[in-house]
Amino acid sequence: MRNESPTPAQVLGEDDFLCSVREGLRSRPRSIPPKYFYDAHGSQLFDLICTTPEYYPTRTETAILERHGAEMARMIDTSSTLIELGSGSAIKTPLILQHLAHDAVYVPIDICEPHLLNSTQRLQTRFPALKMQPLCADYHQLPGHAIKRHAGRRQVVFFPGSTIGNCTPDEAVQLLKRVAALVGPGGGLLIGVDAKKSTETLNAAYNDAAGHTAAFNRNLLTRMQSELGAQLDVDQFAHHAYYNETHGRIEMHLVSRCKQAIRLNGESFEFDEGESIHTENSYKYTAQEFQQLARTAGWHLQSTWHDAHELFNVHYLSQSAVEPLKLAR
Ligand code: AVI
Repeated sequence: MRNESPTPAQVLGEDDFLCSVREGLRSRPRSIPPKYFYDAHGSQLFDLICTTPEYYPTRTETAILERHGAEMARMIDTSSTLIELGSGSAIKTPLILQHLAHDAVYVPIDICEPHLLNSTQRLQTRFPALKMQPLCADYHQLPGHAIKRHAGRRQVVFFPGSTIGNCTPDEAVQLLKRVAALVGPGGGLLIGVDAKKSTETLNAAYNDAAGHTAAFNRNLLTRMQSELGAQLDVDQFAHHAYYNETHGRIEMHLVSRCKQAIRLNGESFEFDEGESIHTENSYKYTAQEFQQLARTAGWHLQSTWHDAHELFNVHYLSQSAVEPLKLAR
């Protein structure tokens, strides 16, 4: 039995936030990467978003995992090492963990240490026999050797929540290639991907009536104030999210309500009224579009599960068991 509280290993760069914000505010159009939403407060706000009636992805994916979790666990191999990217509160993880064997290993990776600690402790209490190895890291910068391989044990990445949608399609291919290197030959990837659907449904999901998405977006500004000493007026930036059909993505922006400036580290960034900081893209893919993207990154499709209305897809992809031989002629 193991139920000690595992201590997360750390793989984080300290100046990342300052550099990204400074670069993002200097560039045109202005943008800040969405990974900076997730400090402790931002992670809590994201959990609240997931409970809103408008944000369908969480409950839809959860229902798919509840219905097909046993089959998914059999496919990935019940004794594998399950590596979860951006594990956050790991709410959906038990739907897979409950079907794994006692000798399986779980490696949650998240950028937010308090969140990672809490969720790992909760899961360790619920699954005392499972070995847990939390890793506090930005999985976009994870070196291939960051996770120890156990001989004879399949490595499978679990990447739910359609977080892949927060990458551009090119970045998504690069990330899928890095995941392939992480799991190695014979490894797998169980990934949740939000599907294309009506503009009305999509716009509502990113503009919830309770205002949690707006608070989540603006928390980025609060973080800039508290962590970087930025001088700015949070109330003078409005949350704006809409479906851009041409690109097949939701775009989130912080739009300046007036002519103003953000001062950061001795630099002044001037904003006209209506000028925006692009804070997030959330790409939506049909099942076929995503399967094509995964093939481009060298993955083989094993199975796809979806809900009755095809709002959301969960794909299981695999790597060939042996590295391709280079035949001498
Ligand atoms: C984490 N990610 C998949 C969410 C999404 O839907 O793109 C983040 C989010 N942004 C606003 N609402 C939720």
